[in-house]
Amino acid sequence: MFAYPLTDNAELRPLEPWQAADFAAYVERHRAHLAPWLPWAQIIVDEPSARQWLQRYAERQAADSGRIYGIWLDGALVGGTLFRVFDTASGVCEVGVWLSPEAQGQGLVNRAARCMIDWAVDVRGMARVEWRVDATNTRSIAVANRLGMTRDGVLREVFPLNGVRIDLEVWSVLAHEWRATHAEAV
Ligand SMILES: CC(C)(COP(=O)(O)OP(=O)(O)OC[C@H]1O[C@@H](n2cnc3c(N)ncnc32)[C@H](O)[C@@H]1OP(=O)(O)O)[C@@H](O)C(=O)NCCC(=O)NCCS
Repeated sequence: MFAYPLTDNAELRPLEPWQAADFAAYVERHRAHLAPWLPWAQIIVDEPSARQWLQRYAERQAADSGRIYGIWLDGALVGGTLFRVFDTASGVCEVGVWLSPEAQGQGLVNRAARCMIDWAVDVRGMARVEWRVDATNTRSIAVANRLGMTRDGVLREVFPLNGVRIDLEVWSVLAHEWRATHAEAV
């Protein structure tokens, strides 16, 4: 089975409908940590709703319009990444991420997001990779910064979440910027 090593004891793998029970249990354990930022953490409340959500991503993957991956640390599901948007016609995709509290601070999402952006840009020819984040989510904004993304701007009160309308920051990296950063790193 495909698995991309992130560290000696962590890997990125596809997250599929057959893993719905694990995913539902994961969301249940970490709802308080995830729900302030991720609307799906309130929609996934049991195994059937987890399966339905993962099935939607399986269908998006088949249509080449989205993908989802899990992050496993020492064999336990601790987080994930997704292409919430993957639009090959316009060459624009959007990456989303999450981690359990205990898995933060190790650069796992940084490594996973780099793998996703490399694939999107180098293999799939995406021109622009986006990161959309609640303006108060400093930890996620720090990830976008570490990835070398640029803050395009803010969509003011664009989205209702948990009873308030949130300001959404849009960050992005363009394909030529990503390649230039990589060339510098070599
Ligand atoms: C957003 C979120 C994924 C960030 O997790 P994270 O662990 O801080 O992210 P990274 O993988 O980039 O790791 C960075 C941290 O690891 C450290 N680190 C260690 N090795 C590293 C490496 N090789 N590369 C980068 N960072 C490394 C960094 O110093 C940083 O630690 P610090 O926060 O103590 O400064 C996490 O806070 C989360 O899941 N939040 C809830 C859900 C959420 O908000 N999702 C995003 C919605 S837009």
